[in-house]
Amino acid sequence: MHLHAYLLIPLFLPGVSAQLNHYAQAAGLKFFGTAVDNGALGNAAYMAIARDADEFGSVTPANGQKWANTEASRGSFGFGMGDAVAAVAGERLMRCHTLVWHNQLPGWVNSIFSRSDMESVITTHITNVMNHYKGQCYSWDVVNEAVEDDGSFRQSPMFRAMGEDFIAHSFKVAASVDPAAKLYYNDFNIERYINDKIRAVRALVSRAQAAGARIDGIGMQDHARVGSAQSQKELTDTMEFFAEVVDELAYTEVDIRHTRLPVGDEEREQQARDYVEMVRACLAVEKCVGITVWDFADQYSWIPNEFPGEGEACLFDRNLQKKPAYHSVLSVLQSAAAERTAAPEITATATTLETVATADPAGK
Ligand code: XIL
Repeated sequence: MHLHAYLLIPLFLPGVSAQLNHYAQAAGLKFFGTAVDNGALGNAAYMAIARDADEFGSVTPANGQKWANTEASRGSFGFGMGDAVAAVAGERLMRCHTLVWHNQLPGWVNSIFSRSDMESVITTHITNVMNHYKGQCYSWDVVNEAVEDDGSFRQSPMFRAMGEDFIAHSFKVAASVDPAAKLYYNDFNIERYINDKIRAVRALVSRAQAAGARIDGIGMQDHARVGSAQSQKELTDTMEFFAEVVDELAYTEVDIRHTRLPVGDEEREQQARDYVEMVRACLAVEKCVGITVWDFADQYSWIPNEFPGEGEACLFDRNLQKKPAYHSVLSVLQSAAAERTAAPEITATATTLETVATADPAGK
């Protein structure tokens, strides 16, 4: 009893700077992280938050490690953009992103048609990029977005040249280059309730594993819309479905955008509820290791560029003020952390009751 009270004190001391990542870890997750893009590095106020390990325990370069930015011409590698964000991560974890993807792919890869040529291009790319970051990446998104919403394979240059074998091949190369990194398949619209795409992703992961590839995790991007995001139950069911084939799950690129702007208090509260469902789902599933937001501040979100008229998807607004969603997420993490700290007591009580029940046959 005394011990539990003592353990709770450091969590609730007023004035202690302890935020999203601090409580996420106290609640049992490995990290609460964020993407950081190169364009934000000169913004001192933003960077003070991005560098705060209590706020974010993991950093993902939003663009710097992508193919177009690491091997713009064949065999010639550059890591300036990725390194600049890796420096921000410092001693913290990095979720590294991404090795084989159809977007932000330099034109020269599009003109490769033969299987053997594509196989060696993928080998060279993964080997050089992963070697450069070896030891710095908690995980790598090895293959990104290989499936369409209807469950069919995306007709990427990699698929065109090698069929689905490009997936197992990519993971095999990745495992040999940095055996310590967790290797993820990452995609969007797979954080929903079990649908054709979710089934197709699980099936392709299983087939690649059967072909000898190590795939440790499935990353669910979770670019969602306010008001139509999934409930905790749906999200949890989907994760349990994936958990049958991989050891880890993570929400990797979370943002929950308003589809109409400007927004009022009610929409902001709905956004907060939508974020909370996702956080609760991760906390409820043993294999869910962490949550990464696809930037934490609206001015660096990709949403307005990609979906004109939509946005304000992040936890902080353009003035770096915390939104209701931030406060709600933090409070869920704090409660989960407090429950976890108090858990031994609850377990002890449950055991005692069970013992009493077992000892008293009349009670059955
Ligand atoms: C986005 C970046 O945030 C933008 O800056 C860039 O212009 C396009 O890509 N899925 C992914 C991410 O896996 O890499 C994408 O990031 C968003 C969708």
